[in-house]
Amino acid sequence: MKSVLEGRPGLRRIVEDTAEVAGFLWQRGWAERNGGNITVNVTEYADEEMRMAPAIAGPFDTGVDLPHLGGAFFYCKGTGRRMRDLARNPMANGAVIRLSEDGRRYEIIADEPVVPTSELPSHLSMHEFMIASGNGYRAVLHTHPTDLVAMSHNPAFLGKDVLTELLWSMIPETRAFCPKGLGVVPYCLPGSVELAERTVEQLGGYDVVLWEKHGVCAVAEDIFEAFDMVDTLAKSAEIYRSARSMGFVPDGMSREQMDEIKRAFNL
Ligand code: 13P
Ligand code: ZN
Repeated sequence: MKSVLEGRPGLRRIVEDTAEVAGFLWQRGWAERNGGNITVNVTEYADEEMRMAPAIAGPFDTGVDLPHLGGAFFYCKGTGRRMRDLARNPMANGAVIRLSEDGRRYEIIADEPVVPTSELPSHLSMHEFMIASGNGYRAVLHTHPTDLVAMSHNPAFLGKDVLTELLWSMIPETRAFCPKGLGVVPYCLPGSVELAERTVEQLGGYDVVLWEKHGVCAVAEDIFEAFDMVDTLAKSAEIYRSARSMGFVPDGMSREQMDEIKRAFNL
C-alpha cells in the first residue's frame, strides 16, 4: 500500500522531523522502553484525498471534549512503541489520525493500524487549547528527562515557580530560551482525563509542564522548539545535580543577573 507521505512533502517533513527528535530522546536517555510520546497537528497538509480516505481502524472515542478540533489530523506515536524504533521507521511506529467533525471520535487513516499513544487525551486537550488560543503551536512532546523527574520527587521544589527560579538561575540560556519557566502538575494516573485537565490548566502560563514523578510535556510551534525547551531545562537540572554531587549547593545567578537577561532578550 502506498504511504500517505507519498506526494506530500510537507507532511513527510513533519514526520521526518518527529523521527529525528524521537532519536534525540532515546540518545538523551529519556525514552526507556516505550516512554514518552509525540503528536503533531498536520491538518494543514490534509488534502481532499486524505479527508475522504477510508479508515483503516476506528472510530474510537477521544474521551475528551474537543470543539475546536473537528476534522483535524494528527501524526501520533503509537502506544507501546519505542522512540528508538520510531526514529528508524516513523510510519510503522506512529499513525495519522482524523478526528470526527464533533471532535469526539477519531479514525486511523494511515499507514498502518497503529493505535495512538495512551496519552492521547492529554495531547489532544493541549492541541485543543492551542487552536482555541490561536497561538500557532502544532507540536506536543512528552518525555521522561531523568534529572527533572528526580527533582519532582522533592516536595520543596513543587511550589509555584520554585523550580522555574532555580532552573533559570543555573545558566543564562534557560532564562532566555524557556522564558515562561516550568508549570507543575501533581501526580495523576498516566493517560487519564484528570492528567489532561490538570495539564491544560497550566498552559495559560507555561509552555513546559512537569508531571510529578513521571515526566514533562512541552508545547511549541514545531517539534524542534518543544525539544529545545526540555533540553534547556534538563541542562539546568543536570548542572544542579552535578554541583550537588560535587558536594556544594550551587550559587545560582542573582535576581539582578536574571533580570538583566530578561531585558537583553526583551522577554
Ligand atoms: P505510550 O507508549 O502509550 O505513548 O505511553 C508512554 C508514556 O510515556 C505514558 O506516559
Ligand atoms: Zn510518560
